[in-house]
Amino acid sequence: MQVETVQTFKGNLLPGDHPYLKGAWTPQHEEVNASDLRVLAGRVPADIDGVYLRNTQNPLMQAKGKYHPFDGDGMLHMASFRQGRATYRNRFIRTKGLTAELEAGRRLWAGLMEDPALSERPGWGAHGSIKDASSTDVVVHAGRALTTYYQCGEGYRLDPLSLDQEGIPPWSPLDGISAHCKVDERSGELLFFNYSKHAPYMHYGVVDRHDHLVHYVPVPLPGPRLPHDMAFTEHYAILNDFPLFWDPELLAQGLHVVRFYRDKPSRFAIIPRRGQPDDIRWFEAAPTFVLHWLNAYEEGDEIVLDGYFQDEPMPRNYEGAPAGYERMMSYLDQYKMGCRLHRWRFNLKTGQTTEQRLDDRILEFGMFNQQYATRPYRYAYSAVQVPGWFLFNGYVKHDLQTGRSWQIQLPEGQYASEAPFAPRVDARDEDDGYLVSFVTDENAQRSEVILIDAKRFEEGPVCRLELPHKICSGTHSCWASGESIRAGGLLSFSAP
Ligand SMILES: [Fe+2]
Repeated sequence: MQVETVQTFKGNLLPGDHPYLKGAWTPQHEEVNASDLRVLAGRVPADIDGVYLRNTQNPLMQAKGKYHPFDGDGMLHMASFRQGRATYRNRFIRTKGLTAELEAGRRLWAGLMEDPALSERPGWGAHGSIKDASSTDVVVHAGRALTTYYQCGEGYRLDPLSLDQEGIPPWSPLDGISAHCKVDERSGELLFFNYSKHAPYMHYGVVDRHDHLVHYVPVPLPGPRLPHDMAFTEHYAILNDFPLFWDPELLAQGLHVVRFYRDKPSRFAIIPRRGQPDDIRWFEAAPTFVLHWLNAYEEGDEIVLDGYFQDEPMPRNYEGAPAGYERMMSYLDQYKMGCRLHRWRFNLKTGQTTEQRLDDRILEFGMFNQQYATRPYRYAYSAVQVPGWFLFNGYVKHDLQTGRSWQIQLPEGQYASEAPFAPRVDARDEDDGYLVSFVTDENAQRSEVILIDAKRFEEGPVCRLELPHKICSGTHSCWASGESIRAGGLLSFSAP
């Protein structure tokens, strides 16, 4: 393995015992380029071509009070595969906030759990006073990686192979874009939403495959909401209004206190992909909150949507957490929230919603073959959660047609990433490809990138490659095929 250190960043982070600043969440402050990654097991298959990108949170500056892992500075990690060889790079995302804090030599913005009045500069996002760290999510659209922030931010672009910084997209709207914008690989479009504390409280937009903003409309809500993800079918986008939001009376006093309103339904906005606010059809469903969706598709009069239903969107405090972190620890624990695989069906003719639990296990962070987005699909891959922690240590593959499932569990002390599906070059069917993940091994104090052959799922990783440094855990990831990147996102593939 050849390794070149590009830059090592120096902040003013103090040593401490914060549960999300140690172990698998130890921040990484070094940027490297590495080629010919050392093989730990198996070999790099010749039939995988593309890049795996993951966004992680690595704070450089000491928090002004209580640190929340989602306050950390965004760092993009890239593992590329082509012709049986693998390379790795990582870069901090050069946000305006990171640049300003590096110049100041200290933290300038209050974090999620801190008093907004502590922010020394105007803030970004729905919350309004925090830094746009662009640290939550990543997609590849129009040939470029686009990183986003869950509280909304401007979005930052990088070359998906070199990780050269390309700044803020020229079309980024006033209220920004939320994490979980979606790329429709069939049309090459980017579908996005944002949300804020001022009416109409949500917008939905479309950027075409030539990188032009071609649609941007309000999705009026009854008040400020906290949507996290969206979904899409061939003809519709699906936005949501869940009964988990900031208490309006306290918000009027400047306090951001989230409550779950158990007597209010979940609401789903189904809008034609180029539709106007008057075209929105609202559907109601059982009260919950959903962090992440899987696929959605049209079937007869119905729209089918898969995701992870939360039984307890506002969980009880975590017992045994460090003082002041009881609430944070519990909101980072998918077991506390009871996240389970679920299917919603919205009947466009009758206006009725039907729901079905698909699995009793605690699962979240689902992935599927994106070439089957908007189509009836068969296979979903969910991450197995570590009880008590925002960490993954296994995967479940579901066959949604037969109800069969297969589970793999990583050895003790190993923690995985969200694992997108990479179709094999010239794939023949839906599960012909690999799940790609980074794994941090706390026993060996190193990180790896692994490939799991989806057709031989239970065999576990068929290839394990050493990364040049131990990376921090984080949130979201994506896979982009080499062919589509080389075509600048203008590749049209035929429907499976
Ligand atoms: Fe997310």
